[in-house]
Amino acid sequence: LSVFREGDFVELLVIEPERRSHRFVLKLVKGGKTSTHYGDIYHDEIIGKFPGSIVKSKTEYHFLVLRPTLYSEIKNSRVFRFATQIIYPRDWGLIIAFSDIHNGSKVVELGTGSGALTLFLSRIVGDKGYIWSYDVDPKRLEIAKENLNNLSPYKNYTLKLYDPNRGIEERDVDAVFIDIPEPWVVVKEAWYALSHGGFLIVYIPTFNQLKRVVNEVIRNGFVDLKVIEGFTREIQWKPYAIRPHIESYVFSAYILFSKKSYFIPRKLFEELRDQPK
Ligand SMILES: C[S@@+](CC[C@H](N)C(=O)[O-])C[C@H]1O[C@@H](n2cnc3c(N)ncnc32)[C@H](O)[C@@H]1O
Repeated sequence: LSVFREGDFVELLVIEPERRSHRFVLKLVKGGKTSTHYGDIYHDEIIGKFPGSIVKSKTEYHFLVLRPTLYSEIKNSRVFRFATQIIYPRDWGLIIAFSDIHNGSKVVELGTGSGALTLFLSRIVGDKGYIWSYDVDPKRLEIAKENLNNLSPYKNYTLKLYDPNRGIEERDVDAVFIDIPEPWVVVKEAWYALSHGGFLIVYIPTFNQLKRVVNEVIRNGFVDLKVIEGFTREIQWKPYAIRPHIESYVFSAYILFSKKSYFIPRKLFEELRDQPK
């Protein structure tokens, strides 16, 4: 691991015992200064240090300096602006693990929102992959653009102000990810954009939407469906009371995975025939 350089994000953890959960993230600028509740921090005292070092503010508070995770950059840097609800890390990993999105993948995203998932995907697909992300709201798209500009190390994405229901331009992509309130309206277009066997992933907050989208996905020639709900439980690790945090289960959404096919299994088709559209 290398030392901190200008332009890096750094995470500062206050190590005074009574404040030890306080942390913030900043971007290092030569000659820069950040004012905090704990006094001014001079960036030049961090540039050149290894992660894990300790620095002092002008009011003698001590901080551990570490490299932040992407999620900590989103949550603690004040650089990321929230324009919508976002998808959180508890689901990021599940989304890529079950759809095999990896370095080099080409992905279409429908519903950019604040760009939180776009940021994560941008890091995962890297400079060999690409993301085309659609949204219909110009203000949100502008905020997402700023977030990506400030936080993504790659320029491997295009944000598009366009309704995908009127047609997705891309073809032969490895995955289409949908997070919009009416996902069923874009399922057919997603089919055209995907490569044979490519993954359709839909992020769905309610059962009502899930039922409708499952029907639409099957009708449009997707197979091998899988629906999961992921949940994580954080454990309080204080040595005198090791147990789950009291409020640790929070629902986020159902995640539907399926693959593009030219074949609709007859049994599924028959089951669907009696279902309302
Ligand atoms: C919940 S947000 C997406 C959040 C995003 N996944 C994130 O992690 O930041 C849903 C977005 O879908 C957009 N949207 C709604 N209908 C749409 C449509 N038909 N096509 C594209 N985007 C749409 C909304 O403007 C909103 O920004």
